[in-house]
Amino acid sequence: MITVRFVTPGPQGPVQDREVEVPADGRSLMKVAVDAGIDGIAADCGGSLTCASCHVFVTEPWHGRLPPLSADEDTMLDYTAEERRANSRLSCQIRLTAELDGLTVELPARQY
Ligand code: FES
Repeated sequence: MITVRFVTPGPQGPVQDREVEVPADGRSLMKVAVDAGIDGIAADCGGSLTCASCHVFVTEPWHGRLPPLSADEDTMLDYTAEERRANSRLSCQIRLTAELDGLTVELPARQY
């Protein structure tokens, strides 16, 4: 099992800060978030890379450990509701492995 952490920053500290324990079996971060009822991940397309509503900001050191963006993910990141940053990823494209134990992502203020 590994732990992943979802944080929604707010002006007076995190609005949401939740840790979820999950198997490191390659399931997507988006699926984990949806199954855990994490606010702020919409994932309207169910992971088919057509909605950009599963946007997250991946903190270091985990951002640097992720596989590079695919061309399709790179294109879809141009359609996120909150402006894309250097550490933006689509959570449906992040596969959870043992190397990502402790993965912490910040959620954007909105997905639409
Ligand atoms: Fe739609 Fe990730 S769930 S792009």
